Amino acid sequence: MLDPVEEIKQKLDIIQLVGEYVPLKKAGANNWRGKCPFHNEKTPSFFVSSDKQIFKCFGCGAGGDVFTFIQKIEGTDFPEALRVLAQKAGVILQKQDPRAISQKTRLLDICQFSVKHWQDNLTMSDGLIALDYLKQRQLSMQTIKNFQLGFAMDSWDDLLNFLKAKGYTETEIFQAGFAVKKETGYGFYDRFRGRIMFPIWDIHGNVIGCTGRILKGDEKVAKYVNTPESPLYNKSRVLYGLDKAKSAIRSADLVVLVEGNMDVIASHQAGVTNVVACSGTALTMEQITLIKRYTNNIALCFDMDAAGKLAAGRSIDLVLAHGLNTKIVQLPFGKDPDDCIKKDKQLWLDAIKNSISAMEFYFKELVLTQNLHNVDGRKKAAKDFMAKIAMLDDVVEKDYWIKRLAADIGIDEKLLRDALPAKTKKNEPVNKIQQQPIISTRNKYIVLGEQLVGLLIKRPEFLDYTANLFAPDMMPELQLEKLYENLILCYNKNEKLDQCLANQKICDSLYLNSVILYAEARSEGFSETDLKNELILTIHELKKHYFEQKIETLRREIEKIGSADKVRLDKLMLELQDLVKQKLAIGD
Ligand code: GTP
Ligand code: MN
Repeated sequence: MLDPVEEIKQKLDIIQLVGEYVPLKKAGANNWRGKCPFHNEKTPSFFVSSDKQIFKCFGCGAGGDVFTFIQKIEGTDFPEALRVLAQKAGVILQKQDPRAISQKTRLLDICQFSVKHWQDNLTMSDGLIALDYLKQRQLSMQTIKNFQLGFAMDSWDDLLNFLKAKGYTETEIFQAGFAVKKETGYGFYDRFRGRIMFPIWDIHGNVIGCTGRILKGDEKVAKYVNTPESPLYNKSRVLYGLDKAKSAIRSADLVVLVEGNMDVIASHQAGVTNVVACSGTALTMEQITLIKRYTNNIALCFDMDAAGKLAAGRSIDLVLAHGLNTKIVQLPFGKDPDDCIKKDKQLWLDAIKNSISAMEFYFKELVLTQNLHNVDGRKKAAKDFMAKIAMLDDVVEKDYWIKRLAADIGIDEKLLRDALPAKTKKNEPVNKIQQQPIISTRNKYIVLGEQLVGLLIKRPEFLDYTANLFAPDMMPELQLEKLYENLILCYNKNEKLDQCLANQKICDSLYLNSVILYAEARSEGFSETDLKNELILTIHELKKHYFEQKIETLRREIEKIGSADKVRLDKLMLELQDLVKQKLAIGD
């Protein structure tokens, strides 16, 4: 039977998988190019190869296969990547496969069992009060099921006992975030007691944590309690409901961001499913990055209270700075979307449709709320709103808002223009992928060496020419030296290059494939003449560097021995002269 890892690799296409996270453009016959998701860059130097089934970033060096990609982008370990990809590929893993069982897998199972337990509680007599509450909030049975809502019994050990009977230790339950350590230091108790339970999912729909809401009426304790950060749950990387919203977000090319979990649920029930929540906290950069996988358009809906307004300002600026097209949804009724939907779901649909631009929102909030009959009010309005105008990229838009501000506060436009603060944050320009250089932060000469080796593998007929001009020890690195030497050897012995490469033990195949990918990517669209010029130039640069290095080392040595050892000094001086001559011979 085929190894599951191999089977998954055969069934999945890396281009498609990576494409779910990173917009890619075709660059050559088998390669695709995009902006690296693992480091911040303006020029795309991230490549994915369909024939080699690898990805490689020539900027930061990240590279690997489908498994490495998922591990890196989702921040998971190998067993979890295996699980995720097996599901995608429709490959069934044997439960016994030790690679599929890690600490994380056990914690994921704890989450799943707990949610099931809480769901079952809704049908127990002690849980009916919770089911009633959910119904009273107008949630249908279908919605309750879809969002896996449940009830944690008002007990110190109901869940602990249930999970322990399934074979999980108290420590594991604690690690998953569902138990709290007793203050005495001995033993644990249930974290969630007498609460409506909302599971929290990762984008694949795995439960990774949860939040629990008090039943109505109890004002003495926190309204919501969340699982703490755990090996599974990192609150700044999660958006509530994204797993259920992601395809709708893609097809609508818009995400609606609300504050509360209940708002997400109510909106989904009302048929508006491209909605996620930041769960009451300020939006984070990680969450924005997550959103950008699906769309560049965001509509923010904040609760209509002071705290909501405050959160609005911070989040809007952050989203704008990340280059998302940002709109603000204003509720015509109620304090949050849930309220509004309960009144009339059409109001919610219209509110999204009629969302206003971020600048329009700021204008209303920062200018129109001030007393503009009064100098202080006008000053404050101008100061606050000018800071927002300064963030804009578009000159036409800038001009429009300056004019509007000038008119509303009754001041000369020119004065405002002169007072415009320097631009704080520049949005990234739209990328023209073609004809862009690959920018690498790695050692330039090692990159050149890899380029040469890659080119020679693609075009072995150049080996004759190159071998005569460029000796293996001129390579900037031992591994490259060995690879190059090996190539020459094969070529001279008239062996098949493919076979010789497949059998080499100098480097792993990922490295070799990356080197070839790099050469392909670099020479994309090159004519035969371009290619030859590139070869000559690369050899030249590498040689020059080689001589420079040698000369530098020799100089240092000569300085060190001084005139103490005359014989040796003379010898080194001769060597130095010879090197300088050779370097001169190859020119600049
Ligand atoms: P309902 O009152 O049931 O309609 O919930 P809501 O979602 O409207 O709650 P609210 O507007 O008060 O808060 C919005 C979000 O902030 C909630 O969904 C929670 O994620 C979060 N939140 C509110 N109160 C608390 C709290 O006491 N503790 C924590 N950790 N989060 C809270
Ligand atoms: Mn609410």
